[in-house]
Amino acid sequence: MEKKNIDWGNLSFGYSQTDYRFIANYENGAWDEGTFSTDPNVVINECAGVLQYCQACFEGLKAYTTEDGRTVMFRPDLNADRMAGSCERLVMPVFPKERYIEALKELVRKNYAYVPPYGTGATLYLRPYMFASSPVLGVHSADSFQFRIIASPVGPYFKNGIKPLTIRVCDFDRAAPHGTGHIKAGLNYAMSLFAITDAHEQGFDENMYLDSATRTKVEETGGANFIFVTKDGTLVTPKSSTILPSVTRRSLLYVGEKILGMKVEEREVYKEELADFAECGVCGTAAVICPVGKVVDHGKEICFPSGMTDMGPVTKKLYDTLTGIQMGRREAPEGWIYEVEI
Ligand code: PLP
Ligand code: COI
Repeated sequence: MEKKNIDWGNLSFGYSQTDYRFIANYENGAWDEGTFSTDPNVVINECAGVLQYCQACFEGLKAYTTEDGRTVMFRPDLNADRMAGSCERLVMPVFPKERYIEALKELVRKNYAYVPPYGTGATLYLRPYMFASSPVLGVHSADSFQFRIIASPVGPYFKNGIKPLTIRVCDFDRAAPHGTGHIKAGLNYAMSLFAITDAHEQGFDENMYLDSATRTKVEETGGANFIFVTKDGTLVTPKSSTILPSVTRRSLLYVGEKILGMKVEEREVYKEELADFAECGVCGTAAVICPVGKVVDHGKEICFPSGMTDMGPVTKKLYDTLTGIQMGRREAPEGWIYEVEI
């Protein structure tokens, strides 16, 4: 199958419609067998649970073309597991893991023409999501749900690619203790929109959310986890029960420790420590790894020694190793790469 004639190198992170999407419906206590459809529209009742009380969750992962021309996905099993956790927390039915991975593979196969070629900097973003489709008026869970996976070729999440970001400490909170910060619920993102719009208007790339209980600890941004590198080269990532357990961050901890031989720490990170770090970055499927050059805390600038032009050396090593694994330039740890036979 021929690839589409797309200007792959100039794609930004946005939705482009592709030919196929996977759709499965849950009714009367069971999932149907699912279909691959060419219709991009969703038709649901005007009172569907998702429209009234935001009963919905999603995932994000990518398919890549490797250096030797294979088509692969990165750790889709972890997305399936995390989505199962999101569904349970939102009283939604879990879509079985084996079917989830099989549907992802088949969707990539069917949309092969949209998988960006190797070396273009673009990837095929895969977005599994589930929503309450039956009518709900009183506050309770719906009875019927739809699970979909869409695919869209994407470029870099941040407009300047991997130029260091300027992030502000945010006065709004993202997640409450014992709330839903650790799951990928659409509602977490809806309530972050005011804060990100305001951040952009003020000239910042992203928000640094603090823990809402004490407002002293670093949590994450609206769409990525933080990584830090200490002056003696230790990789530190914030530990919190109210942040999303990022697949990228968990992979980087492994890469740092087992492949690069670094000391790694997952621990609480206090805002007061920020000035002590040598490097800072954000990481996620969409963000990959993007360096942070500066954090602004109510006018006080915390500038990381790695500066505002390039990625710091340790962040770069982590970035090269992770993307090397994803693009098939280096051997992957067992079970990380799922090949899609075309
Ligand atoms: N944190 C938030 C709030 C996110 O939305 C994401 C994106 O999925 C991440 C972190 C990064 O997670 P992952 O590496 O699994 O994409
Ligand atoms: C992802 O990285 O896959 C996400 O879902 C984050 C979102 C902000 C695009």
